[in-house]
Amino acid sequence: MTTSLKFVHLAAIALWSAGLIVLPFLFWQRRKLEAGLDLDRLHRVARFVYVEMASPAAFVAIASGTALIFLQTTFVEWFSLKMALVGAMAMLHVVAGLILPPLFSPKGQFGRFPYVALTSAYIVLITAIIWVVLAKPHIDSNQFAAHLFEPGGLGRWLHQSFGEIRIPTP
Ligand code: HEM
Repeated sequence: MTTSLKFVHLAAIALWSAGLIVLPFLFWQRRKLEAGLDLDRLHRVARFVYVEMASPAAFVAIASGTALIFLQTTFVEWFSLKMALVGAMAMLHVVAGLILPPLFSPKGQFGRFPYVALTSAYIVLITAIIWVVLAKPHIDSNQFAAHLFEPGGLGRWLHQSFGEIRIPTP
């Protein structure tokens, strides 16, 4: 069960990561094209990669990863670091989705700097996540957040930081 779920997880991650890495390159191709058949073809390919490949793969990666949480030992610091990096990856996935629709309007453009910045951000994040999961580095949270893994620790930390928190009742 765990092995097949991991297989699904890794296959989905491969598709998701490949989609994200190729998208900025597709966006960058926009600069050479005027309205016409070639622009429409590029638009279709970019939409296919985002809507039909990367986004469903992200959904499967997150769903299979969430299922794996219940089957593996994940209450360790490296896993929290992984989740923070995955959160950043998901946010940058949304950024690609926000760039796509206006890019194919008559005045749409995507220059060299955003191309290099977005591609580098994806590669750095994906490499960092894979490194964290495979190396499982030992991080001692007692050094910076002593009660992180203690039951009720978050509530006490909120209380110390923000005072008493009350939920307003109408
Ligand atoms: C919300 C999203 C995700 C969740 C909840 C999640 C959760 C998990 C869990 C629980 C495991 C098993 C850990 C263990 O072996 O103890 C796992 C394995 C793995 N994950 Fe994820 N994951 C997510 C996204 C990702 C992403 C985006 C990547 C890479 C870019 C990734 C890469 C991997 C790899 C390479 C493994 C295999 C590790 C091994 O077998 O040693 N995961 N994931």
